[in-house]
Amino acid sequence: MEFKNAKGRDLKNNEYAFLIKNQLKGFPFVIEASDSDGLLSEFINSEKQKIEIALANHGAILFRNFKVSTAEEFEKSLLEFGLVMHADAYSKGGGLTQRKKIKNNVYSSTETSNESPIYFHNEMAYANTRPTIISFYAHLSPNLYGETPISDGAKVYAGLSGETQQILKSHKLIYRRIYKKSNKHFFLNVLQASIKQAFGTEDADTIAKICQTSDFEHKWINDNTLQVDSKVSAVVTNPRTNSYALNLQLLSRDLYMKQFNMIKERHSFWKRWIMKLKMELYFYCKLAPISIMSDDGKPLPKKMLFELFELVNSNACYFKWQKDDVLLLDNTRCLHARLNVEGERKIYTCFGNMHNFNI
Ligand SMILES: [Fe+2]
Repeated sequence: MEFKNAKGRDLKNNEYAFLIKNQLKGFPFVIEASDSDGLLSEFINSEKQKIEIALANHGAILFRNFKVSTAEEFEKSLLEFGLVMHADAYSKGGGLTQRKKIKNNVYSSTETSNESPIYFHNEMAYANTRPTIISFYAHLSPNLYGETPISDGAKVYAGLSGETQQILKSHKLIYRRIYKKSNKHFFLNVLQASIKQAFGTEDADTIAKICQTSDFEHKWINDNTLQVDSKVSAVVTNPRTNSYALNLQLLSRDLYMKQFNMIKERHSFWKRWIMKLKMELYFYCKLAPISIMSDDGKPLPKKMLFELFELVNSNACYFKWQKDDVLLLDNTRCLHARLNVEGERKIYTCFGNMHNFNI
């Protein structure tokens, strides 16, 4: 039995025949089982140290052709890796997207409408205490599209101009999130989380306690609308590797339109036209769930946002999901997104190993 990397060097493994491919320039690092009867949890149990080294070196690992099949096996694989799960941090800590609980700590990756792309972000970038690891599992790979692009935030940071690096390092960002009791908008089915879905309750006292312990400032705009602000560093030192990386939710009207234009050929002329109109209305009516400001309360300069967007995209990998793929991401280093989906897609997620970046 052999355990090889793309260049054919033996990495030693007595139980499995695996071929490690570096086919996507090492990002993500692909570990492909040559025998699909191999359970992912067993592999991770036997090769945990090497997997940790690969994750530290590459920031993202794609496990392909292993036997996963169920949410339980996905969760078991992550437990073997040593992931300490904190699903509540999202479902009761102001998570922005709707998710369905699948089993224990396993949730659907998002219930956001299939036609809309999701912008690049580090998971829970708006929170000082956030997961350092996030994982996705393709229970049902999409028929068409539905990619989860990932971008290497360490390379993005290294590629930024000195001026932008300096500004991002010396100022915190303010994330303003707006939640409503009802998340149904008559013209756009965005399915962002309602207050109850984001905090597990609508009770004002309980929400106040959650915000206090999470370092969030909150205020009720009216009976139905809650505003939550948090101040977070955009540049972080990765506790695993001690290198700099970005921590961002890369959303603005201009960037969203740019992202949509990148995949506009996937829609017919009329659908494209209607979607653009909906998106313009969405931003005009201030329905975006989150807005980003510099610490003086002003919006980030467009020039800086475009610079970030270009670098995030040029350091991104867009791969097509195959059934049973599992993606393991260093959330401190990597951003992820989602493109539009055609047909059914069941991508599950788990995250954990929380870290407070404010101390
Ligand atoms: Fe996400």
